[in-house]
Amino acid sequence: MSRSGKVTVVGAGFYGSTTALRLAEYDIFETVVLTDIVEGKPEGIALDINQSRSIEGFETKLVGKSTTADGAGYEATANSDVVVITAGLPRKPGMSRMDLIGVNAGIVRGVAENIAKHSPNAVLIVVSNPLDEMTALAQIASKFPHNRVMGQAGMLDTARFTHFVAEKLNVPVASVKTLTLGSHGETMVPVPSRCTVNGKALSELLSSAEIEELVTRTRNGGAEIVALLKTGSAYYAPSAAAARMARAVITDSREVMPVCAWVTGEYGISGVYLGVEAEIGRVGVNKVVEGKLTSQELEELKKAAEAVRSKQADVKDL
Ligand code: LAC
Repeated sequence: MSRSGKVTVVGAGFYGSTTALRLAEYDIFETVVLTDIVEGKPEGIALDINQSRSIEGFETKLVGKSTTADGAGYEATANSDVVVITAGLPRKPGMSRMDLIGVNAGIVRGVAENIAKHSPNAVLIVVSNPLDEMTALAQIASKFPHNRVMGQAGMLDTARFTHFVAEKLNVPVASVKTLTLGSHGETMVPVPSRCTVNGKALSELLSSAEIEELVTRTRNGGAEIVALLKTGSAYYAPSAAAARMARAVITDSREVMPVCAWVTGEYGISGVYLGVEAEIGRVGVNKVVEGKLTSQELEELKKAAEAVRSKQADVKDL
């Protein structure tokens, strides 16, 4: 089997290290690089994952490299095809994702600049919070075209919604299809009109009050886990989502996924990073795919766009 492509994961916390592990276990990439500013941490995790290869049966090699804010160590990431940026602090109980904007903006800006220097042709997948704003900032700092910078949120929020529906109806997750658009935050827009169970509309199986309850739980899905963990935020489902996006890029799969992408007129919205469905391939976002929404869902999506637009306008100064 031929392996190709180099993926870098910036940040060796739980989100970054589980993403690196998932990417390595796909066994389709040549190299996965894991970096962190904590000296020794990425090297140690890489060694540990590499030692699991003979048991799990994969050949992809992990390279761990400590970096500094002024760019030392980034040479290990050179010529990456895809870079997943997980750097930054996670939430603590009671915090909103937006509470992280000041501190994480400085971190994400520095990372995006250093990555752009060494991997000028990479596709960036941002997962740091607040997601929509950090994605916008990574594009500004890297100076990459908008299609080569996207954020991970919709895959995760959709997976959470799917899990809640499957649990409620006691059906396999594979029979459930859901969709969330909008922001990864307060203005997340679950799209019940596009949700089905074995092809049957969700509205035929659950009352609107029941659907609303699952929508609310989805919107608060990250906070629910932060409150339970007390230190740190979710990482198993988030890393599964980020790794799938990286795989879609490297394999040029053209899968349509809910991601945070730059919109240019779709749904009548322009010039903002927003959760939408997009075809993902070697160029990053190949195109944004405009689906059918009810008028209420469209109105909510437009509201979400205006809410994130005003925040994204601020990030260039952070
Ligand atoms: C969450 C964080 C990762 O939603 O944003 O769990």
